[in-house]
Formats: sequence, C-alpha cells, structure tokens
Amino acid sequence: MKVKIFADRILFERDPMIYGQFLEHFHRQIYGGIYDPGNLLSDQDGFREDVLEALKRIRVPVIRWPGGCYASAYHWENGVGKERIPSYDKAWRVEESNAFGTDEFVRLCRKLGCEPYICTNAGSGSPEEMSNWVEYCNLTSEGQYARKRIAGGNPEPYRVKYWSVGNENYLEGEIGSKTADQWGPFVREASKMMKRVDPGIQLSAAAIADVDWNVQLLKAAGKWMNWISIHGYWDELWQDNSPANYLQCMARTDNLDRDVRKIRGLLNAFGLEKQVRIAYDEWNLRGWHHPMVDTAPLGDTNFLKARDKNDDNQTYTMADAVFSACFLNMLLRNADIVGMANFAPTVNTRGLIFTHEKGIVLRPAYYVFEMYTQLMGNEVIDCFCQDIPRMEVSDRFGQRHTVDQLDIAATRCDADGKIAVSLVNKHPTDSASVRLAGIPADRNLFLRVLTGPEPDACNDVGVSQVVPHDRNNLVSRDDSGSVIIQLPPCCVCVLGEK
Ligand code: AHR
Repeated sequence: MKVKIFADRILFERDPMIYGQFLEHFHRQIYGGIYDPGNLLSDQDGFREDVLEALKRIRVPVIRWPGGCYASAYHWENGVGKERIPSYDKAWRVEESNAFGTDEFVRLCRKLGCEPYICTNAGSGSPEEMSNWVEYCNLTSEGQYARKRIAGGNPEPYRVKYWSVGNENYLEGEIGSKTADQWGPFVREASKMMKRVDPGIQLSAAAIADVDWNVQLLKAAGKWMNWISIHGYWDELWQDNSPANYLQCMARTDNLDRDVRKIRGLLNAFGLEKQVRIAYDEWNLRGWHHPMVDTAPLGDTNFLKARDKNDDNQTYTMADAVFSACFLNMLLRNADIVGMANFAPTVNTRGLIFTHEKGIVLRPAYYVFEMYTQLMGNEVIDCFCQDIPRMEVSDRFGQRHTVDQLDIAATRCDADGKIAVSLVNKHPTDSASVRLAGIPADRNLFLRVLTGPEPDACNDVGVSQVVPHDRNNLVSRDDSGSVIIQLPPCCVCVLGEK
C-alpha cells in the first residue's frame, strides 16, 4: 500500500474533545470505580488515585455525566447539599445513594483539569429543573440555587460550559421518551430557560441519524443549539452477552462515518454547519450488558448480577483497540464537524479502565487513547492512500463484509511542525508493508506499536498481553526517501518524529 501525506495541506484543527470520556451511574462506574471513599487507594476526597493518574495520562479533555439512561430520571437536587437522601434509580432499578452528585463531579473534573459536560433530565424532568441546575452551577450568588451551592461550601461558580438536553429521548424505552414533534419544542423551551440563566453555555440535544427527528429538532430549536448528540455501539450486547470475536468485530469497522455524513448533510441543509457541531457523546464497540431491566420481577437480583459480566476483562481484546483506532481516525477525518466524542464508559463496565481491590487493569483500548492523545498532532493533514488491500469478513450474523485492511490518518503538531501518522492493520495474521511519501528525509522517526500475541490478546489482573512498545526496526527508508513501514498483524501504530 502507498500513502502520500501533504504536511502543508492542513485540512482543519481537531478539537481535543474528540478524546472525551463518559461516566454514568451504572454498576461500578462511579461507586467502586472512580469514587471509592475509604479505599486505601483513594485520596482525601474519595477518588481512586490510580484511576485519576491513568486518566491524566490520556489527557482527558471532557467528561460527560451523569448518564445515559440514568439522566432521564435523575433529579439533580437529590445529589447536592450536606444531607444526601438516597433515591430510587428508575432507569437501572437500584438505589442511588446520591453521595456522588454535582459537587463531586465538578471536583473530579477540577482534579483532572478537564471540562465537565452535564446531561440533563429531559425524561421525567422539565426545562425549569434543567435551568435551575445551570443556576446552581453558574450563577454567582443570585437566587436559591446558587445560594444552595454556596451553603454547601462551594462559594465559587462552577462555570459548567457544556450541557446537553436529554439522552436518547427518541427511544421508546427511555424514561420520558418523546416523539419527533414533541422533541423540537421541548428542546427549544429548555434551551431558552438554560441560556436565559447563562447565555455563555453551549447546548447539545439528543439526536439520532434520522431525518424526521432531526428536521423537527433543527426547525424548532436549531437556533439555540451549539451541538447535536449522537451515540454508537456496534456489538450490541444489551440482552445477550456473547461478544463478537475479532473478525466479526472487524466487520464493524466499515462505514463508521455513516451517521456523521447524514447529520452533516442536514446541518448543511439548515445552514447550521458553522454553528452546530456533532458530539458523538457515547461510543464504544461493545454495547453494555443489562438484561431484563424492564422485566425482572421485584426481588429478582439475577438481572443485577448479570451486569457483572461487563467487567470480564477477557472480553476486551485487540478487537476493541483496532476498532477504537479506526473510530478515532474517522473522527480526525471529520474533525471539521465532529468536535466532541465520549468513550462510553471510561471506568468499569465496558470501559478503558477496570478497578479491583488492589489496583487497576488498563484494557487494550486505553492504550489507543494514550497513543493518540500523547502522539497525534492537533492539525489534520491531507493524505492520499493507494492500493489499500481489502479483507473479506463476516459479522456475527454471518453477513459478509469487505473492509479496508488498513486505516490511516495523518496529523501535524502546530507547535513544532512534527508529523504523526496513525496506521491500523486489521488483518489477524498478515503483516502489511506501507510505503509512505511526504515525510522529509531529515526527520528522525519512531514507531509506537500496540499489538498482542494474538487477536484475542487482552489485559487482566496480573496479565499484560497488550502494551505499546517502540519498534523502530520496523521503519526504514527506500532510495526515493519514502518511509517503509512493516506493520505487524492486528496492530495500532503511530509513526512519529523524535
Ligand atoms: O447501555 C447503556 C446505555 O446506552 C446508556 O445509558 C444510554 O445512553 C445508551 O443507550
């Protein structure tokens, strides 16, 4: 395969928020995940220090919270103030202690130096409740909600900039589900009230790549919106926890930009493409496993035990790393319109990081974020790929797909002009030779390689099969000065400049 990169053809700058994260009040993401007061591994505020350190290493730019489905039945006032009264979480059918609320979330973001992004309750909530939350977070001292924040020991406004109206309210099963003709006016009224409190906030609204939903949303509320949110999970495991194998997952790596293309077209049609960006604010190869959440009878705890299956580290292999790199490459190639994306979730469940009583496991996809946030540049540059080999694969339903074997994205760092190219080889057994032109001969290169002994390699407690290493011996130059890279099978690589 031949690649030509054009370091002087800068397409656009990517927003660092495409490497965003997501935490929901589900299973062990919050309690026992990021927040574990009393644990010897936690700091004085109750946050797991090993998790904080791992999140700092991947330079988390933004965290979305509190959900997800949880948000559609969450009343934020239960989670603030000195006394926290437990509530019943109707989304996930468990008691919520409310020990972790807005104050704790903002404190977490301050520790990480990242932006908080709050998803409001457009399910059982109201525009007034949403705008009261903005009062609580962003007003200096005016009114009962800012005063409540101050009384809770937090005198300074939180200045939460990113807010979304709702979560997947288009789904019939979502609490407070809305029809397309209800949703636009609802978003408009919520946006008006929230921006009446703080005109400086940026607002998103839950959406799906559906013309009717989005036409009605953009007609009614487009003028108020800064973002439009979509979600994606490709290995759907909600009821049946039988994860797709490596090759079946590779069948999901084609057409990753399908929904971005649809939304981009609509934003252009409405003339909103300069005002509204896409927030892919939940994405993961693997859908979460939470069977029978609507049907389990009272007293049946099996449906809760089933959620433990999300924590099986053997599930998360090089398939997750390769898919995630392909998705991040898609985000880079569309960074003019996709400004935020949030891996769902970050800690436990299907997350990048698994916590256990003695420490953490960094799952393969974690290292993809580490490589991209530390090594890829902020400017997306043009690159032309020729003779990309194709591979035939079947998805888990036996349907045949032909996908590109290799996936490439090229960047440049505006601070020092250094070029960084991500190269993904999806083939489970075949290595691939890439001839790359466009990097000056005087540049001293390294190749960071993430792979494992086999496609199903994973990390677990006491097991580290998938960790990135520099393998510069895989890089050479030919007589024309082009860079020749020998990509191992089943790998995510970043070619960078020393
Ligand atoms: O499976 C978890 C759920 O996936 C999130 O709560 C929701 O937003 C998405 O449908």
